[in-house]
Amino acid sequence: MKILSIETSCDETAVSILETNGTLESPNFTVLGNALFSQIEIHREYGGVYPNLAKREHTKNLIPLLNSALQEAGMIQANATDIDADMVTEILTREPILAEQFLELIPTIEKPDIDAIAVTYGPGLEPALWVGINFARALHAVWDIPIIPVNHMEGHIASVLLSNPETLNPEPLIQFPLLALLISGGHTELVLAKKWSDYEILGRTRDDAVGEAFDKVARLLGLPYPGGPEISNLAKMSRDANRDIDIKLPRPMMKTDDFDFSFSGLKTAVLYKVKDENLTDEEKQDMAREFEDAATDVLVEKTKKALRETGAQTLVVAGGVSANTYIRNSIKNMVEGEFPEVSLLIPEIKLSTDNAVMIAIAGFIRKETGTIPSIDDLSAEGNLALS
Ligand code: KG4
Ligand code: ZN
Repeated sequence: MKILSIETSCDETAVSILETNGTLESPNFTVLGNALFSQIEIHREYGGVYPNLAKREHTKNLIPLLNSALQEAGMIQANATDIDADMVTEILTREPILAEQFLELIPTIEKPDIDAIAVTYGPGLEPALWVGINFARALHAVWDIPIIPVNHMEGHIASVLLSNPETLNPEPLIQFPLLALLISGGHTELVLAKKWSDYEILGRTRDDAVGEAFDKVARLLGLPYPGGPEISNLAKMSRDANRDIDIKLPRPMMKTDDFDFSFSGLKTAVLYKVKDENLTDEEKQDMAREFEDAATDVLVEKTKKALRETGAQTLVVAGGVSANTYIRNSIKNMVEGEFPEVSLLIPEIKLSTDNAVMIAIAGFIRKETGTIPSIDDLSAEGNLALS
């Protein structure tokens, strides 16, 4: 089947068209079109993501991105098509710029050969999520193509089914139970899946997400948003210089008898160390390195405990923070050394951060498992959980 997918949960606006073949056991995917606009430059000025600004940008970008994804897929056929403009205007009342662009493009092209529209409905920023949902509803109304509501975090897990994930023991690709370490700007959780679409959250952060901690510590060190890649670059400089460092940060909750996390104390510890200090470049690098070490130690330790206690056969590490090379390597070393029978899957770096292709795959999973959420009361769910 061919799935059009829409992602607007945070600061990436993305549209993709994915062709799926085979079954969930041995799927085959071809990305026919993929268009993404990152709002990072826009939010950087404010040091973080502003929901209403994100909403405005999604509103402006969706039609150009749809157009470019359809072009790439060779699915644009110029042809005057009758559509009910009043209905579109009503569905997109809160997104007038999108309505206007919609009514310029859609009546000039033929309905594309698409079987389903997958759209993220949570978790994320509600004003941002609504734009994607209303866009999907408008397309559904004019093209009569079914909608598959998708959980963004299931999308991150699904991202490893795409080409070129980083793997250890990839045969067979997925065996259940599957453990997922989901690390992003809004989430830090350990999730156990007994099968696809059947999730149990073993533990989660009690305060800040790990990506949020990277972003906040970056700000304390005077680095721009998003902080993850910035911290990671500085930390690497310190490691490459092989300096002895005497900074010691806490590893919060590393040894607790549960699967929960806490990162706000780690950030506060950095705050106390940098407060009223003018750090040299080398001191900043060393601080970044100790912070990255501390966050990594906690993630590795809790994941190890979860692998041990659940007997999971597959470990997936996904979400924006899984783009971090040091974290990827540390988890790889742990699995290789202590769980040689477990297959490890981490999406390739460009699919670690938010994108629409992973949303299409999660839509495919829902279709195949017969667990498509009802669209009768489809609405943005900022705190949507996986289980
Ligand atoms: O999954 P994602 O793109 O968006 C959310 O759903 O939150 O994750 C974004 C988060 C940000 O906090 C960003 O700083 C972090 O992922 N991130 C990184 C790296 N690249 C992105 N964190 C650590 N190291 C990186 N290389
Ligand atoms: Zn994400």
